[in-house]
Amino acid sequence: MSKLSVDHLLGIKYLLKEDIDLIFDTAQNFKEVINRPIRKVPSLRDITVANLFFENSTRTKLSFELAEKRLSADVVNFSAASSSVKKGETLIDTVNNILSMKVDMVVMRHPNPGAPVFLSRHVNTTIINAGDGTHEHPTQALLDAYSMQEKLGDIKGAKVCIVGDIKHSRVALSNIFCLQKLGAEVMVCGPTTLIPKHIESLGVKVSHNIKEALGWCDVANVLRIQLERQGDEKDVSFFPSLREYTQQFGINGEMIANTGRKIVIMHPGPINRGVEITSDVADSAESVILDQVENGVAVRMAVLYLLASGIGRN
Ligand code: CP
Repeated sequence: MSKLSVDHLLGIKYLLKEDIDLIFDTAQNFKEVINRPIRKVPSLRDITVANLFFENSTRTKLSFELAEKRLSADVVNFSAASSSVKKGETLIDTVNNILSMKVDMVVMRHPNPGAPVFLSRHVNTTIINAGDGTHEHPTQALLDAYSMQEKLGDIKGAKVCIVGDIKHSRVALSNIFCLQKLGAEVMVCGPTTLIPKHIESLGVKVSHNIKEALGWCDVANVLRIQLERQGDEKDVSFFPSLREYTQQFGINGEMIANTGRKIVIMHPGPINRGVEITSDVADSAESVILDQVENGVAVRMAVLYLLASGIGRN
């Protein structure tokens, strides 16, 4: 397979395993590029990419921007906080105005689940979802799986536990889809209140006991508590206190040592040190947290490059 089966990256749900393999092979080449003294290639010269962030971001926004610049694309950035969205403009009007300035691709983060899918049906451009509410964060899952493959050699048969606030996490859903397409076994672990009902129907195991989960897994992908996404539920308490959450589900070095095994530690960031993970675990030799960030640039270069070839400009 030399091209993707999709015209947009809206979610891992829409990708074939062959798409993921192609993205990983392409990312491998770009990882070599970004580790050379000259880290730039001309692949996206004359392509203009708009990064539309309607929600806060550090890693994803910088990573996409670097990926675009390493590919020699022209880049424009948009932040909802300082835009005319505040004056009542619709999403479709905002994006169509930006596209009128001869923009070829849109990278979009939005607080509403489904916003990139909606946009892909109403505007004429290539769209990459950089995280939509509690729905999907496809490039995060791709960089997570790529980093796992780099550390383990092969993901097929690996046991991966996603720990924490599964209910409010787009990273969890994209990871479940991605890991299952690659042949991994997936468990989710957290308080009952933070695990969506019927999640077993996706084919994942469920545990409410962190020691049991660590005893089972080869990889622990640790999530933070996403208080900002609890929205209208903010008055509802999903657990008695952060301190109690840490006591029940926080991962520390002693718990890892007690398993008697090596467990690969991952986290999509931002980390709340001392809440869901202690510093000795986050900074340990088995942690690939910063590798995930490095690999994010190569994986996003691969996604941009492969989707740009579909619009016939490279
Ligand atoms: N992992 C992630 O999406 O981080 P940001 O919110 O900083 O982009």
